[in-house]
Amino acid sequence: MSNADVSSLVKQAAQAAESAYAPYSSYRVGAALLADDGTVVTGCNVENASYGLTICAERVAVTRAVAAGHQRFRALAIVATGEQVPYPCGACRQVLAEFCAPDLPVYMTRGLTDVPICRTLGDLLPEAFSLSPGS
Ligand code: THU
Repeated sequence: MSNADVSSLVKQAAQAAESAYAPYSSYRVGAALLADDGTVVTGCNVENASYGLTICAERVAVTRAVAAGHQRFRALAIVATGEQVPYPCGACRQVLAEFCAPDLPVYMTRGLTDVPICRTLGDLLPEAFSLSPGS
């Protein structure tokens, strides 16, 4: 990915974070997933008064992408408010591993001013659990 492609993906993740529904945590997260055919699918976190029903931005992006017919991905960007680099939670790592190769680059940044940190999905989730489809 060129620097321009990375910043475009990060920008789209930041834009998605603006749609976050986060009245409980006030922590807004946006994710942008680049599909193999160049389509970008975004997601934001959607919280719920029954806290455990909250859905993370990354899983919203993956499920929206799959529902739109995309199952192969080239990169993911995650942008969030707050002081910490927005590393994806364990559940999102596992869901990403269902559709993405271990070499998927994941770009993470707080807002748009920081230089994104890049890790592969395999760095974030080594030895992911998997089953062969159909088993
Ligand atoms: N959140 C995400 O959107 N992605 C993650 O990987 C971790 C957490 C959201 C869920 C909740 O709305 C807020 O961040 C605080 O946990």
